[in-house]
Amino acid sequence: MNIYFFPSELLLFALVYFTAQYSVTGPGHPVTAIVGEATVLPCHLSPRMSAENMEVRWFRSEFTSVVHLYLHGKDQYGKQMPDYRGRTELLKAGITDGNVSLQILNIRHSDEGQYYCFVQDGSFYEEALLELKIAGQLLLEVYYQ
Ligand SMILES: *[C@@H]1O[C@H](CO)[C@@H](O)[C@H](O)[C@H]1NC(C)=O
Repeated sequence: MNIYFFPSELLLFALVYFTAQYSVTGPGHPVTAIVGEATVLPCHLSPRMSAENMEVRWFRSEFTSVVHLYLHGKDQYGKQMPDYRGRTELLKAGITDGNVSLQILNIRHSDEGQYYCFVQDGSFYEEALLELKIAGQLLLEVYYQ
């Protein structure tokens, strides 16, 4: 009797094992940054595993609106949107631990909005959606008076 159930359980196990390799997790709340300053958009793989040999793509509304691309073990600037040129750094200190957080320098008002943190390993990929909010300098000056 059991022999009839075994193959489907094995198939299910194989499906889960080979497809659900990791999930991609953002901070779970909007990140607030200040104009002119640097900010980090947190993103990591769960469970923790090295993303060193994966594709890490940070993009805005479209897959091709590239904020930062890391591929074949290197940062690739060829397809980066001009707006972000020289202002992004994929923080590599934790990349072997699955931490693929992105630092953006010299924050502008136009940086406000949604960001996708997309991580692909072979044919498998997952992504997280993050929200970046910008606080203006003026607002802050008023706040500190
Ligand atoms: C990932 O790296 C960033 C930048 O170094 C750090 O601020 C953050 O705490 C790390 N996150 C995790 C979950 O390790």
